[in-house]
Amino acid sequence: AIEAVRTAPRPRIVRGDLVDELPALASEAPGDATLVVFHTAVLTYLPLARREEFAALVRELPGHWISNEHHTVLPWLDAPAPDDEHLLTLALDERAVAFTAPHGQSLHWFAPPAAPAA
Ligand SMILES: C[S@@+](CC[C@H](N)C(=O)[O-])C[C@H]1O[C@@H](n2cnc3c(N)ncnc32)[C@H](O)[C@@H]1O
Repeated sequence: AIEAVRTAPRPRIVRGDLVDELPALASEAPGDATLVVFHTAVLTYLPLARREEFAALVRELPGHWISNEHHTVLPWLDAPAPDDEHLLTLALDERAVAFTAPHGQSLHWFAPPAAPAA
């Protein structure tokens, strides 16, 4: 993992609240790129109203939304509850697709992953 990071471009880190920062950051994406908003184990720290605000923002963006959160964090998703309460639910554009362990230890697809629509 360390070798992979050494050769990867240095990520840009922006300080701030994710709901406040997202619109301006997303608008910086090049027009010919596919914007992907990804978060894991983050929205659980926001109150529900703020999570809903975030969801409304992401829905308005082009591209795709990949969330990896506990199933109670985005309660409007049509997602099964895992047997193991520690597992997170991976969702693509609000469609639950897999259970994951919180630090990437496991990934259990509900069905073979399909390619996202362009
Ligand atoms: C459990 S950590 C997960 C970090 C990383 N995604 C991971 O899986 O290793 C939660 C992170 O969410 C960040 N966070 C919580 N509330 C936030 C907010 N309103 N805006 C931006 N980041 C927030 C915290 O600073 C922390 O880095």
